[in-house]
Amino acid sequence: MASVKFISQNGDKQDWRCDRIAAPWGLNTPGPDAEWLFRKDVCLKPFVHAKLVITTQGVYEAEINGQIVGDHFMAPGWTSYDRRLQYQTFDVTANLLNGRNCIGVRVAEGWFCGRIGFEGGHRNIWGPHPALMAQLEIYYVDDTVEIIPTDSTWVVQRGPIQLAEIYNGEKYDATREVPYWSTIVPEGPCDISHTWQPVLCMPPLSERIMLTSGFGEPVRRIEIIKPVQQLLSPMGKSILDFGQNLVGYVRLRNIKGSRGHKIVISHAEVLENQELCIRPLRQCDAVDEYILKGDQAGEKYEPRFTFHGFRYAQVDGWTSDSSLIDSVEAVVCHTDMEEIGSFACSDTLVNQLYHNIRWGMKGNFLSVPTDCPQRDERLGWSGDLALFAPTAVLLFNCYDFLKNWLVDVWYDQQTLDGVPAMVTPNATLPDPVWCRRKPCAIWHDVTILAPWALYGETGKVEILEQQYDSMTTWLQKLPRNKEGCTHLWDTSIFQLGDWLDPDAPPDAPWKGKTDAQLVANAFLIQSLDLMTRITALLHKTGEKVEFEKGLNAAKKEFQEEYVTSNGRLVSDSQAAYAIAICFGLLTPTQQERAGDRLVYLVRKNNFRIGTGFAGTPFLCEALALTGHIQVAYAMLLENKCPSWLYPVTMGATTVWERWDSMLPDGSINPGEMTSFNHYAFGSIAKFLYERLAGLQRLEPGWTKCRVAPCIGAEFSEASASHETPLGIVSCSWKTTHFGKKQSRLEVQITVPPGMTCEIFLPEGSGDLQKTVGQGEWTFETCFTRENEWPVKPLPAKS
Ligand code: BGC
Repeated sequence: MASVKFISQNGDKQDWRCDRIAAPWGLNTPGPDAEWLFRKDVCLKPFVHAKLVITTQGVYEAEINGQIVGDHFMAPGWTSYDRRLQYQTFDVTANLLNGRNCIGVRVAEGWFCGRIGFEGGHRNIWGPHPALMAQLEIYYVDDTVEIIPTDSTWVVQRGPIQLAEIYNGEKYDATREVPYWSTIVPEGPCDISHTWQPVLCMPPLSERIMLTSGFGEPVRRIEIIKPVQQLLSPMGKSILDFGQNLVGYVRLRNIKGSRGHKIVISHAEVLENQELCIRPLRQCDAVDEYILKGDQAGEKYEPRFTFHGFRYAQVDGWTSDSSLIDSVEAVVCHTDMEEIGSFACSDTLVNQLYHNIRWGMKGNFLSVPTDCPQRDERLGWSGDLALFAPTAVLLFNCYDFLKNWLVDVWYDQQTLDGVPAMVTPNATLPDPVWCRRKPCAIWHDVTILAPWALYGETGKVEILEQQYDSMTTWLQKLPRNKEGCTHLWDTSIFQLGDWLDPDAPPDAPWKGKTDAQLVANAFLIQSLDLMTRITALLHKTGEKVEFEKGLNAAKKEFQEEYVTSNGRLVSDSQAAYAIAICFGLLTPTQQERAGDRLVYLVRKNNFRIGTGFAGTPFLCEALALTGHIQVAYAMLLENKCPSWLYPVTMGATTVWERWDSMLPDGSINPGEMTSFNHYAFGSIAKFLYERLAGLQRLEPGWTKCRVAPCIGAEFSEASASHETPLGIVSCSWKTTHFGKKQSRLEVQITVPPGMTCEIFLPEGSGDLQKTVGQGEWTFETCFTRENEWPVKPLPAKS
């Protein structure tokens, strides 16, 4: 059978035989336009195989003979459209018939030219209107191949989706449905050909824009959630509670009512005074609408080109005789990643916390890693990912997803003269203090931190090779002081620091109590440290020597600037100690004293959290590293605000952006940034795996691991399992107390082929140490409990 050379991964455009087509009125539509329906009738000889290769500037859903092609949602996905556009290939052999067929493609604005960005966002960031490129490839029985590309023979008209916006939602008018739009029109009186117009053939895609199949899985409709209750609000509104803050949309069936009647679905993450609380959504309506065509048999509706972050949906205008709650379900959408981690323990609140972290990651890994899924942002904020990546890789397989995004991080960085964008894809940000072209610690360290996390999880050096130029360019561009500490950050540069420190004013989240320069420099040193390891792995000997020199000089300056010889830090804060301890910035004596000081601060704060985005991932780990696991558990189990469990006790089902997104009286934090679905504080899941369950990766790609549960507090059991590149590794432990201070410990461990596992378990008043290989292992020990529990806070006067 003859074959056509197929489009290569790196975007060889010669295989694209199609025109880029648009509606002829595209350029004259200043505001948001209705969706465009494209159509082409084709007649086929007997064939054996057929493929559809397709992409849009915008978002699309294709149909052949009235059947939807594939199961992607918001295709072709979000990339840095000025440099990279993803396409999809579908096997459509089963969709096509010998003889007459019809291809239809509905196209809407999506991220490409719909409103997106910060502080309300902008329209038309990557182009003035959507465009479609597609080709159907038919492999005939007679060994010939035909390509049917988008070209001037296609026709177009507006479809029933009157508005399809990511923030504002979708408005579907069923009275404007176009009969037979993607099917062959039957002979007879229903000739509708006059409603279609010839398309406009646009100039080819700019040379700069690469067509690529991308690396990650697509976004799909992953799960269905039924409402748990229907509420009647004080204002008389019908509100459905799905019991879970989720990302996706509401699907309605059994819709009945008169033609032209409108049903309105409004979304919110929380209720305030028993009504939907939409203030945190800012300039984002999050409202879908359906106008009935009046079909007495009942109608169905689900949006295609928008998504919302919500737990509650208010449905106005329900006139059907079927009950609303039975006619509604939520469709959960995210990038289709495999869940590769699990964790559980004997504390139900901690288990709920872990549940919330999983859901936070699902909702925010939608085509790109986003800050939040509900308000007028949903952007690829790099700092959030930089801090969460080491946790993310333990929960879901996100290697390809992040690899794909990192390619765009580098593209955006190149367009900004080597300084990474604050958000990738770079939805142009307005220019307040921290935005465009301004170098920023942590956010821009994503160039190093994210590839390093992916390498650690998989052992794949290729991700370090792929991102090497991005890493080194960033470190070259990072502005250092001209005099004094010339290896540290230029102190005149504004930093976000320990963003969202609970003591920062609600309207100035960068004004935390930890010196933002100290935080920036600690992350710089961490980046330099990683670069010495990365250059060694990539056999770049000369570069390694240079990075080592820079690292040692920066460490020395850090010591001089921020640390006393006894290990006190100039910012006497939880974040400063946690970061300095975990990043190895201290001498052994300083480290020990810093650990004691951290304990002092934590006890003084009644075990409540005093850190923001930057310090939080390191807080419990720093306590564990310096021998204070019980204090770490006291923090983990604290449920007064700010703490990890406070949101859980307030009914949270995802991780909040602020420790107090909801205040203890149930009112919503008046601050501008009050999301109930931000993954950053969920970085504690790494500690749950590594310390509470005790499963730690020691070598990249899991060739070596350690099982060393930190038994403490009142935890009586914990377990974690993880699907590594070598297979599933798991450990599960249980204790029973007997005697005043004696406990029995049972541990079960599974080690896959190719992995060695170091085991450290308490035994008697010492440790049992063993190294094992592949197999199922069971250990039983008896040990003396020595740890004090509960740990006491400091007396009020100290
Ligand atoms: C986002 C954050 C982000 C921050 C940085 C916020 O609006 O939601 O998660 O990192 O801005 O400025």
